[in-house]
Amino acid sequence: MQKDHSGQIISCKAAVAWEFDKPLVIEEVEVAPPQEKEVRIKIVATGVCQSDLYFLLKCMNKALFPSVFGHEAAGIVESIGPGVTEFQPGDKVIPLFMPQCRECHLCKSPKTNLCVNGSAGHFDGKNFESSRITCKGKKLLQFLGVSSFSEYTVVKELALAKIDPAAPLDKVCVIGCAICTGYGAAVNSAKVEPGSTCAVFGLGAVGLAAVMGCRAAGAKRIIAIDINPEKFEKAKIFGATDVVNPNDHSKPIHQVMVEMTNGGVDYSIECIGNVEIMRRALESCIPGWGVSVIAGWTNMQDISTQPIQLMTGRKWTGTLFGGFKGKDGVSQMVKAYLDKKVMVDELITHNMTLDQINEAITLMKHGQCIRTVLSVSTQ
Ligand SMILES: NC(=O)c1ccc[n+]([C@@H]2O[C@H](COP(=O)([O-])OP(=O)(O)OC[C@H]3O[C@@H](n4cnc5c(N)ncnc54)[C@H](O)[C@@H]3O)[C@@H](O)[C@H]2O)c1
Ligand SMILES: [Zn+2]
Ligand SMILES: [Zn+2]
Repeated sequence: MQKDHSGQIISCKAAVAWEFDKPLVIEEVEVAPPQEKEVRIKIVATGVCQSDLYFLLKCMNKALFPSVFGHEAAGIVESIGPGVTEFQPGDKVIPLFMPQCRECHLCKSPKTNLCVNGSAGHFDGKNFESSRITCKGKKLLQFLGVSSFSEYTVVKELALAKIDPAAPLDKVCVIGCAICTGYGAAVNSAKVEPGSTCAVFGLGAVGLAAVMGCRAAGAKRIIAIDINPEKFEKAKIFGATDVVNPNDHSKPIHQVMVEMTNGGVDYSIECIGNVEIMRRALESCIPGWGVSVIAGWTNMQDISTQPIQLMTGRKWTGTLFGGFKGKDGVSQMVKAYLDKKVMVDELITHNMTLDQINEAITLMKHGQCIRTVLSVSTQ
């Protein structure tokens, strides 16, 4: 029997990021009980995503510290705050960095997955006040409103998806970011059509999920591009028909794409977070109707291209969480996984524990994994 902590502060382990570009430290933290319309969850498993590394190691935004990172997770509801109607203790859940309140004008529109109640698009590091996690008397920022590098966390009811109790949490955690982002970039944001030709730039978990989305949408040709040839074998498993290493070519990669496809691809998806490659991805598209989707994340540089690239009918767009509305998308993709319609296990190359988080970060930094899933607490 597990102890009932509801209404009380829980002391537990979390990996705390005290400072920018420093190793995380496993600390004892206090997690407050959930307040009005909040839910406290026990994190069972979490993936480590490149976006965690971006904010920890690259983006130089010191206002984000101290914080608890992690946003690609699955867990179990421990207790609920007043006014919570959708969840009960014991429910299996996936926290959402893209909330879905179902009531705002954005949630009511089928045209977007943004919600006025906050999203990664509004992420500005000012959430210390609303954080429920403290360590040594200091509030820790809840990264993207989630903080899954902790045994327990508190999230808003509107930022939590209930999932099928049959779902293995150490696998479906990856649906909480990479799977939805990449797959949705292809099916929702690019709207890939049957018989089309696609190019996916960057073959991490997001890129591989994009390749899988292109295949599910019926693409005839899927060109997978990465400077790390070790990613190619997996790309073929996920549906790539061609693999290209830009370093094997003397011409710029967009010219290689245009020549390989007789004028350009119908759809391209950038899954790296590099503004130069975003431009190459756009310019790989066929004039007239080519669509290029930015899924990779950066806020350090601006994108640029010649206006003629767009005047000739290419379209440039981007995606957060693959355009999936948080709650709907997660339950849809968990169901698709259980029905064996999408692959998730194949993305997970390493399993570790929360204590080994710095090792997991090092693997990702050096491109030596697709996804590492950390076991955070036992069910
Ligand atoms: N839009 C969203 O909602 C969202 C969600 C999750 C992640 N992201 C972003 O998506 C991107 C990918 O995430 P990930 O976890 O798959 O990362 P990852 O680091 O595992 O994968 C990136 C891949 O790009 C390759 N690469 C790097 N430079 C390249 C280049 N110049 N040309 C070709 N390939 C190159 C790397 O070898 C690697 O395989 C990151 O920028 C991440 O922050 C965005
Ligand atoms: Zn992510
Ligand atoms: Zn909303």
